[in-house]
Amino acid sequence: PSLREFAFGLPKAELHLHLEGTLEPELKFALAARNGVELAEKTVSEVTATYDFTDLTSFLAVYYPAMRVLQTAEDFHDLAWAYLQRAKEHGVVHVEMFFDPQAHTSRGVPFDTVVSGYRRAAVRAQRELGVSAELILCFLRDFSAEYAMATLMEALPYKAWIVGVGLDSDERDNPPAKFAEVFARAKAEGFLTTMHCDIDQAGSLENIRTVIEEIGVDRIDHGTNIVEDPELVELARQRGLGFTCCPVSNSFVTEQMKTDEIVGLLRRGVKVTVNSDDPAYFGAYVADNYIALAEKAGLSHADLAQLAINSFDASWMTPARRTAHV
Ligand code: HPA
Ligand code: ZN
Repeated sequence: PSLREFAFGLPKAELHLHLEGTLEPELKFALAARNGVELAEKTVSEVTATYDFTDLTSFLAVYYPAMRVLQTAEDFHDLAWAYLQRAKEHGVVHVEMFFDPQAHTSRGVPFDTVVSGYRRAAVRAQRELGVSAELILCFLRDFSAEYAMATLMEALPYKAWIVGVGLDSDERDNPPAKFAEVFARAKAEGFLTTMHCDIDQAGSLENIRTVIEEIGVDRIDHGTNIVEDPELVELARQRGLGFTCCPVSNSFVTEQMKTDEIVGLLRRGVKVTVNSDDPAYFGAYVADNYIALAEKAGLSHADLAQLAINSFDASWMTPARRTAHV
């Protein structure tokens, strides 16, 4: 098969995907019309013209304001359902989807509206697409630790619908230690944990060390700056720690896919995976990310298969469900 056929056909798990990052301009217009929201941009090309990112901050400045079209549980369902159908076309059989409840509760949308809309799409994906879909609640790290803790408390009645918790948004001046207590409580409540350690952020390596040695996360999102410390790489390898890499996203926020870092970790036996992050904004769903990385780094079909195996190994599927898929 061609690279394209192979990358699309490969059964895979997607582990780093922000549901709010799957909002395509066409759906944004439809939701705006449905909810009577006035938008500054009137055409798809006017929207995509604002996707002029040079770093994480300039991305987030476009990402959050777009969310105001999301208001009802039906809106959240429709967003996730559109993504899940697309993911199926990209060979995804299992997905663990981030969502940012505080991006909605902070503007008056109830927590239950967000999570019940997303959950309905996840259940529907299993039944109608044969795709298993789980939710990971992400705290916004530029909000306070108190607000994160209050959000965690709000999530407790929904434990059966939320497999784990994560941490995203602006890492600058918001290191992992700020949320140590929140994550300790989340673990005590039975949630699995992951945190973003974004590419080339100031203090990135220090933050990666903190999340491994002090927070004790089950996975790391991005985190490829770990290559700067070979001993820490060895520790991550021994522990079988998963890294959710997003090559096309990297190329938007740093002007590089970070191919050498991702492939270097792969060659050393670290469980790196390939994911899409915010596909509507970066113009690439998950198989597109496999293809982009393969073309840039000259990866073989066997390398791509290893990345897909890693995606199941690093996933939070139970062993029984894992054998049902692979
Ligand atoms: N990093 C930080 N915040 C985010 C990201 C990311 O990759 N995607 C969506 N919010
Ligand atoms: Zn992300």
